[in-house]
Amino acid sequence: MNPEIEPALSEAACESLQDRYLAVRARTLALVAPLDAEDMVVQSMPDASPGKWHLAHTTWFFETFLLSALLPDYPLFNPQFGYLFNSYYEALGPRQPRPQRGLLTRPTLTQVLDYRSHVDEYMTELLQSDQSGTVTELVELGLAHEEQHQELLLMDILHLFGMSRLKPAYDEDWPGNAPGRRGHFKRLAGGKVELGAATDGFAFDNETPRHSVWLQPFEISDRLVTNGEWLTFMADGGYSRAEYWLSDGWTLVQNEGWQAPLYWERAGQYWQQMTLAGLRPIEPDAPVTHLSYYEAAAFAHWADARLPTEAEWELAACSGDLEQIDDVAWQWTQSAYSAYPGFRPSSSAVGEYNGKFMVSQMVLRGGASITPPGHARPTYRNFFRPEQRWMFSGLRLARDVGAHVDQNNAFAADVVAGLSAREKNLSPKYFYDAVGSDLFEAICDTPEYYLTRTETALLESVAREVAADIPANAALVEFGSGASHKTRLVLDAAPQIKLYVPIDISEDALAGAITRMNKNYPRLTIAPLAEDFTRAIELPDAAHDCRKIGFFPGSTIGNFSPQEAVTLLRSVRRLLGEDALMIIGADLAKDEATLHQAYNDRQGVTARFNKNLLRRINTELNGDFDLDAFDHLALWNERHSRMEMHLVSRIDQIVNAAGHTFAFRAGERLHTENSYKFTPTSFADLVAQAGWSVVHHWVSDEPRFAIFTLKVSAAH
Ligand code: AVI
Repeated sequence: MNPEIEPALSEAACESLQDRYLAVRARTLALVAPLDAEDMVVQSMPDASPGKWHLAHTTWFFETFLLSALLPDYPLFNPQFGYLFNSYYEALGPRQPRPQRGLLTRPTLTQVLDYRSHVDEYMTELLQSDQSGTVTELVELGLAHEEQHQELLLMDILHLFGMSRLKPAYDEDWPGNAPGRRGHFKRLAGGKVELGAATDGFAFDNETPRHSVWLQPFEISDRLVTNGEWLTFMADGGYSRAEYWLSDGWTLVQNEGWQAPLYWERAGQYWQQMTLAGLRPIEPDAPVTHLSYYEAAAFAHWADARLPTEAEWELAACSGDLEQIDDVAWQWTQSAYSAYPGFRPSSSAVGEYNGKFMVSQMVLRGGASITPPGHARPTYRNFFRPEQRWMFSGLRLARDVGAHVDQNNAFAADVVAGLSAREKNLSPKYFYDAVGSDLFEAICDTPEYYLTRTETALLESVAREVAADIPANAALVEFGSGASHKTRLVLDAAPQIKLYVPIDISEDALAGAITRMNKNYPRLTIAPLAEDFTRAIELPDAAHDCRKIGFFPGSTIGNFSPQEAVTLLRSVRRLLGEDALMIIGADLAKDEATLHQAYNDRQGVTARFNKNLLRRINTELNGDFDLDAFDHLALWNERHSRMEMHLVSRIDQIVNAAGHTFAFRAGERLHTENSYKFTPTSFADLVAQAGWSVVHHWVSDEPRFAIFTLKVSAAH
């Protein structure tokens, strides 16, 4: 940071309005100190203004709204400056067209600096002679206005320097953005909350009046989205897949050829970013900046989240739970910029300051690394058009609470939707309540169900080879860990694993597994996650600095459709990071008789497991299924290379559940599960679509089962 800037800042803490006036004015001059006169003439685009224009316009503001209006006999410095340096005030007459501000070689920089001195001299006189409320209010506005231009000045210089082949640094020591510490969604209850600026202290008119709004419960991330996360979005086709984008944004991406945030430049395999310190490597853990609203919204969509509303943002910012509130990047909200209820702009020319822009722009909240210290506040409403991105803009994710927390409602909704479908169906994930999990363990003990035994034996015999790929101090993240039986085979062969993150929807299963693991692996840290791993989740803090090894045994991947499997493996890749590995077990296609027996065991355990779904609906969703009125059916579907499980209605019948009524014809099926069976090649093709590539694979003797180790593929 330019050392001349900060002394001026410390003066900003002084009390008197005159001192503060001089400190803010001095800070503007300190900000242009690293620039040469040529740097301050050129206008790099219509939205940006030359440095010299900023110096003069901020001065014109004080001259026009204070000196000319309130100081008797004030001599205008130059009567033509009103035309040159009026920004957008219609009430004050015609002005230099905005896109032509870069044509002003005259007045020279020296004349503009003289203009500043002239106005400062008379402002000092005014401030000494008139302390009225009108003067104080207008000076406060003028100072806040000049601070806004201090930020604009840096934005505009970065844009100008970014367009230069030389990529000049404004200040080589300008600090980069620090990474956030945390990275969790915080839940806020919402309800009736107060929004907007209270009457004490300075605020812009658009922050008023303070008023009540009603908020649903919501969750909001405690930090901003990082460059690393943005790289994953890009690698996942973020800029090439229309489904993430708002229509206008998608048109813009194509017309402009956007492939990355503004100021990002490819350097071979890597990306660099133009900053005020010049061209710098992308720092993966630092927040991503220079995004349009469209990009922020597309990312949020891709991440299964959304942007916060400005009311949510303000409530969360005041909760004390967030970081990176106003020191890195302004944060796009999903709120359109419009008047608060009861808003009245001032009837004088300053009334044009904010009110007339209240259309076609989106609100950003917070503050940025280049925002003058003390300028931002939680009620501050910044606003830009959705396509603009030369400001220091980033994003913080939010999400609705109901969508992923209330499992019971999700079950009810899925039952109603699945039983109302033309081909009735239900997700196999609902098999696994406590009874269902026990029944599945019992299936694994039947002589016909070869999968578990075969996989365990294979893993035992290749564990050393698998472990050889696992780096020191790694974290093993297991998806659907259940009783964590197979985990021990990996942990025994790979003592270099220091952290185990079992993820399972069943808290009971987790608790049992942890007790056993703690006893057997006293040096292992265990950080469990009681979550549905098919939904957006975040890893515990303890995993942040480790390389992650995903573990997904049991051919559970086969219970997902190919499309679902790709989506899941993509989000697993995002969760584990680009240097992750994955150990994954998958059953292979084989003769139909073996498969048929495995899913039709003679003791009827699989049939009970299948029907347990109906029992679960009866107990949890007030259903009246007669379990004896349905038959278990498991069959091989050659075309899709999968075993299918169904429940077949023996009779015409009416069933009630979850407050709805469903009709079954005799022979009608409820499809409850698919178990896809792979070949090594079909599996490699599947994972490739999700950005993974096979490093090694091992296949058992008959009945054939495979274990694969995967890494993130180079193309991602
Ligand atoms: C958990 N999953 C891999 C088992 C499978 O083989 O698809 C579930 C199962 N369904 C019937 N038997 C076992």
